[in-house]
Amino acid sequence: MTSLDDADARAVDPSPDDGLGSVLLPNVVHEASAGVLIVDLTERSVVFANDVARGLAPQATLPISVDDWSAAAGLADLGSDNLVEATATAVSLGGGVGSLMRIAQGEPVTGEAITARRRTAASDARETLWVLGLPLAGAFESMASLALVVFLPARNAELAAGAQESAVDLRDRAVLATRASFTITDQRQPDSPLVWVNPAFTAMTGYSFEEAIGHNCRFLQGEHTDPEALAEIRSCLATNRSLTTTLLNYRKDGSTFWNELSISPVRDSAGNVTNFVGVQADVTARVEAQQARNEAFSQAARAGDRLALLADFTSRMALSQHPSQVVALLADVLVPRAGTWCVIFTYDESGRLTRPLIAHERAGTDPAVAAQVARLLDLLPDRLTEVSPLWQVLSGETRQLVIEDYDTLLEAQGDAGRSPVTTLVRDIGARGMVIAPLMARGGILGAVAVLSDATRPASGDADVSLVGDIAMRGGLMLENTQLYARERAATAALQRSLLPRLPTIDGLEIAARYIPATDEAAVGGDWYDVFSLRGGGVGVVVGDVMGHNYDSAARMGKLSTIVRAYGWPGTEPHLTLTAVDELLEGSGMDVLATCTYATLKLDADGGALCYSSAGHPPAILRRPDGHACTLDEGRGPMLGVSRLLPSGAQRPGDQCLDLTPGSTLIMFTDGLVDSFAAEPDLDVGIKELRRLTSELPINASPRLVVDTLSDAAALNKDDVAVVAIRILDPA
Ligand code: FNR
Repeated sequence: MTSLDDADARAVDPSPDDGLGSVLLPNVVHEASAGVLIVDLTERSVVFANDVARGLAPQATLPISVDDWSAAAGLADLGSDNLVEATATAVSLGGGVGSLMRIAQGEPVTGEAITARRRTAASDARETLWVLGLPLAGAFESMASLALVVFLPARNAELAAGAQESAVDLRDRAVLATRASFTITDQRQPDSPLVWVNPAFTAMTGYSFEEAIGHNCRFLQGEHTDPEALAEIRSCLATNRSLTTTLLNYRKDGSTFWNELSISPVRDSAGNVTNFVGVQADVTARVEAQQARNEAFSQAARAGDRLALLADFTSRMALSQHPSQVVALLADVLVPRAGTWCVIFTYDESGRLTRPLIAHERAGTDPAVAAQVARLLDLLPDRLTEVSPLWQVLSGETRQLVIEDYDTLLEAQGDAGRSPVTTLVRDIGARGMVIAPLMARGGILGAVAVLSDATRPASGDADVSLVGDIAMRGGLMLENTQLYARERAATAALQRSLLPRLPTIDGLEIAARYIPATDEAAVGGDWYDVFSLRGGGVGVVVGDVMGHNYDSAARMGKLSTIVRAYGWPGTEPHLTLTAVDELLEGSGMDVLATCTYATLKLDADGGALCYSSAGHPPAILRRPDGHACTLDEGRGPMLGVSRLLPSGAQRPGDQCLDLTPGSTLIMFTDGLVDSFAAEPDLDVGIKELRRLTSELPINASPRLVVDTLSDAAALNKDDVAVVAIRILDPA
């Protein structure tokens, strides 16, 4: 059955003629799930019931007396089993009559609680309804003797259960019900005038019955009434359909309210639409609350977007190492999100403005735009004049500039504002502009101008502060990368200055090479050294101080000197490294390093090699026949960790071997070993180095060895030091 909860009732058109009476009323009230009856007051009979009301008394055939319809629907006053019974009791007691009876007698009922038999299988509890009745007195003639009866559901289980407790609430609802404004129009008269309005209409709109009757209800509309809603109403009226819509209306005093309007056609027995019934409700509070919610929601969404954008920008920025990367990232983040195009200027080391970066959302797709951008790039920065808003920000004259309309600004500047640059900027499209400085601790490092052409809405406050936020972060990052670049350059210079000039030693051919890392973050710390020993022979060192910055380069400088000083007397390699350990520990020098130290003493048969490794990758020995082997014995702990070792722990003794003339000793840092595989792997690296070494011509010079190995190191993310020493054949 159709229940009072049946929301579908909202969309149902009344059937043209079901033979239920001469006047049919549509199923339209403020809450569309209400039941509606129309009662003929002369006959005291129900002549129309909408789907919902029919569901209350499915057996009833209209027209039917009000009493019989009440009985069929099982209506009862609250607290009584049967409305008719209750009414009879009330009459016999001389009290008030039941609401439906009173309506049938032509009295208005502004909202009273009743119960109806519940027809769902789920429960046999009675359904609590409240009823209001509106005699259509004053309506056009054919309806003047009718009354409209509306049943609204009290959908509260507790209300249904406890009549007493519910009474107050129901009264409140009843009061609300009287606020529902009802109107009826006559479609047979020109311009479908109103023929009846109830007092609630007057209360809601300020127009009296007399003022309203005879006019089309559009007098409630005004300048800001949504034309789309009106078009919808027109279309429904033209096709005789029901409709519920919400539109802005104007009271008589000019104040506005949101009107939730429901209209439905009324048909005569031939099925022709004679009237429309309208129900209006002032839903301003609800609409405004919804609008406030929507606004809050979109603000939150905008703020969320902004936060996500800033977070994305910050994390991408953290990966930037060069000022140019920061500038490119700024452009990438700002266009097209904050504007159509942008111009970013930065100052170089010597305080000169660099060529700007210009990014335009259509530069990649529109050759005309690309040409304009290229032309502007040619003109800037030389033609940046002092009246330029960008210059004002770059020079620190202004903090942040928001230009609503570039044309107006140029007009205000007169001749000063006319230049090839301003013309080009206008041609590219500059309605609005936001210019923010790239600020850092050290002052203004540049400025970014975000421009919007006419295709974009004017910049809102959110865009302006977004540009400001991004420029501020960009400025700080720019400064970091500039400082970083400076430190890298200084580190590389220091590193080079600390590397020794190779000595010339009879009987030996020596070559070495230092290659800074391609990943410039990794510069610093690797070294090689070759020096004559006091009693003859040479000391050879290759080492790697932990860390990659100016400090580690400086520590490398100290450490190489220390190793050289302890090695110079000709001290055995492992004792030299032990002495270094002791110095590092005793002096509290904070250095961690790996290194291999070897001594090579020449004799008539070639040379005697002794070496000791402090956690360093093994050296390679290339025999005169080209065969390459690894010198992986004699490994002790790295330098700078001796205090962590058990007391009394000693470095293993030297590994010594005789080298025949033509042998080449090759020592290197892990930057070389690790550059043969994406993931550092000592075994893979050493194997590859041995292969490369053994494939060289028999007589390969140390220079060829060093260059071949270091050139093959494709992935030198780390810096590389490599040294090769060949014992020359005395002949
Ligand atoms: C209306 N109309 C209407 N319009 C409005 O702004 N506020 C209202 O309360 C009502 N109430 C109303 C009740 C009934 C029963 C009908 C049939 C219509 C709509 C108005 O009268 C008119 O139909 C619309 O403005 C669209 O038609 P026009 O103005 O384009 O001719």
